Amino acid sequence: MQRIAVIGAGQMGSGIAQTVAQHGIDVLLADVDLAVAEKAVSGIERSLGKLVAKDKIAQADADAALARISPVADYAPMAEADLIIEAATEREAVKQAIFEQAGKVLAADAILASNTSSIPITRMANHAPDPARFIGLHFFNPVPVMGLIEVIPGLATSEDTVARTRAFAESLGKEVVLSQDEPGFVVNRILLPMINEAATVLGQGTAGIADIDKGCRLGLNHPMGPLQLADFVGLDTCLEIVKVLHDTTGDPRYRPAPLLVKYVEAGWLGRKTGRGFYDYSGEEPVPTR
Ligand code: 3HC
Repeated sequence: MQRIAVIGAGQMGSGIAQTVAQHGIDVLLADVDLAVAEKAVSGIERSLGKLVAKDKIAQADADAALARISPVADYAPMAEADLIIEAATEREAVKQAIFEQAGKVLAADAILASNTSSIPITRMANHAPDPARFIGLHFFNPVPVMGLIEVIPGLATSEDTVARTRAFAESLGKEVVLSQDEPGFVVNRILLPMINEAATVLGQGTAGIADIDKGCRLGLNHPMGPLQLADFVGLDTCLEIVKVLHDTTGDPRYRPAPLLVKYVEAGWLGRKTGRGFYDYSGEEPVPTR
């Protein structure tokens, strides 16, 4: 792939754009507002700068990667893209609107992919111009660090689309897991019930935040405890995924934890709002319970 477009310049879109640019591919990084896309490019510049400071990459490579990223606010330039990746908020209506817009400019043999965490690919393909060229491409956060990408074909996705998408993912130096289009795919189907259960354990007063996370860090050798990871992912995103698991399976075991719902209602969404299960206003995160 020579040129790709990423729609949505948040945490995931920025990470995808950085990784792709570091692998020599031109990237259009789009958001509804050009200022948002430009701010994301500044964030990527800082992230590359940290890698230079740690002697992980050369300044010239950081400069070259940055030069490959163009912030945009409209879809017209995406007509040149071999692959368009939607990485917007985890709301189906938002994603549908993006697919309809992107579909108007998608080149004849280009692929349209969604970085959805859990929304069924087959269902979203109805809003794509050609379901045979629509696929799930699920990155993990932080994208430049994490070694996995899930590839999720929908019912109508062609073999050629799967092969080209897999080759693209592998060209980024990532390992691929191919998942059927089932709720939560492979990893989030396992991860989100754990995060949801951690919120239930907290809500029932079994232990406090620090001990729940310590238990999983030291007892399971996880790099982060589930509540810290929930803050990292964003509690709103976690809740959206749990709701998809609950709604699509109808299985009561995926019922959202009342405390998770309450935190999202309070606007305590994790790191991005400065408060989630932890308070991020000081030097170090402080558990809030
Ligand atoms: N870009 C490039 N490199 C980065 C980076 C970024 N944005 N963020 C961190 N790094 C690198 C650092 O340079 C460092 O490299 P080094 O070890 O070679 O020096 C390494 O990552 C570790 O970073 P730090 O030393 O700053 O911090 P930690 O050791 O605490 O690690 C972490 C941070 C990598 C985030 C680690 O805590 C971790 O792996 N956490 C779990 C992450 C996880 O589970 N992600 C998946 C979330 S689920 C998901 O994304 C799916 C979605 O659908 C919900």
